[in-house]
Amino acid sequence: MGFPDDFLWGTATAGHQVEGNNTASDFWALEHTPGSRFAEPSGDACDHYRLYREDIALLKELGFTSYRFSIEWSRVEPEPGFVSRAAIEHYRDVLKACHEAGLTPMVTLHHFTSPKWLPDLGGWEGDETPERFAAYCRVVLAELGQLIPYAVTINEANIAVLTRRMIADRPAPDTTEQAPVGADVADALLGSDLPKVFLFAFGEAGPDIAKRAHVLARQAIREVSPTTKVGVTLALQDYQPEPGAEETARERWAEDFDDFLPSIDGDDFLGVQNYTRARLGEGHAPPEDAERTQMGYEFYPQALENVLRHAATAGLPLIVTENGVATSDDTRRVEFIRQATEGVHRCLADGVDVRGYFYWSALDNYEWMFGYRPKFGLIAVDRATQRRTVKDSAHFLGAIAKRNSLT
Ligand code: BGC
Repeated sequence: MGFPDDFLWGTATAGHQVEGNNTASDFWALEHTPGSRFAEPSGDACDHYRLYREDIALLKELGFTSYRFSIEWSRVEPEPGFVSRAAIEHYRDVLKACHEAGLTPMVTLHHFTSPKWLPDLGGWEGDETPERFAAYCRVVLAELGQLIPYAVTINEANIAVLTRRMIADRPAPDTTEQAPVGADVADALLGSDLPKVFLFAFGEAGPDIAKRAHVLARQAIREVSPTTKVGVTLALQDYQPEPGAEETARERWAEDFDDFLPSIDGDDFLGVQNYTRARLGEGHAPPEDAERTQMGYEFYPQALENVLRHAATAGLPLIVTENGVATSDDTRRVEFIRQATEGVHRCLADGVDVRGYFYWSALDNYEWMFGYRPKFGLIAVDRATQRRTVKDSAHFLGAIAKRNSLT
């Protein structure tokens, strides 16, 4: 049950969800807008902006070989054209901490949050945005590229496709505990006056803007840091059609995945992100007796294997850049990881080129509109004291990483 020698075993975070006080970002503004539908503001988050050295050391001690985190555009360029040296030096030190600990860093340059000035220029539906994003990527990689072996330009570059669909299909707002996650988010976004601050663009331009931004960013990165491997990540659903819904499944894969192939042609890898399956057809909801995660959707770790097999058609090396479960019962997280990693192993045995597995997330962190309630982390965070407590699931996955094999 071994894995290839250089297989990356990691955990993932995103700046806004863990660093705290991301005050120059669009999300911070949105969280603090009167009538905001966010469950709570992000505040100090996990204070990872200060505690990154301790967190990285902990991940190393657990056995991980890699760490995926994001650089915040709004910290690097808090005003258009002004580059903060302080922010660059901060991230230089985060990268150094990874290298000193022997963790291979993977850096995401855009993980949902943007500088709060971007919406005035049209946000992720604005024509100038791809060039501006590429210019920011160029600055970061020119400064730090030698320390960045893997760069993800955009996290879930297809998110606008998914959000547009979710909004089009949205059921009537349901505010009960059992509300499906999609209904909640769509309602929350539509209730906001600031939709364009999101990468989750509403307009038709959204997906194409994201594609163009990726292509220009990749070009800029290659020019200033030719040794850095570049890719995007895509949110991929395991569509399971009932008889009669096969065509819908094909259409969805085409929109979520095939439409992105021309833009990622020439990338060094593709980041695959998956959390559950999506049944299509009459019984499109999860089965009645299905186990649900704290996000409302089905506990279904088998989805990752199905999605990897499909994503392999891109012809690029694949890296699982996110896969995880929100639960307060850590034994279910262990089970989720066990089944998901077995699926990755079966893919490898069949010749699918998978280069790494990153669990989402290292820490219990800020789950966007849902605040701090969903627990995705391998490590619990007491937000009053910022004390970290390692969960059994962290030891479980860390041990797999150390052995580089499943038992
Ligand atoms: C996002 C993360 C998020 C996770 C869990 C992914 O789509 O990249 O930021 O926390 O899902 O919902």
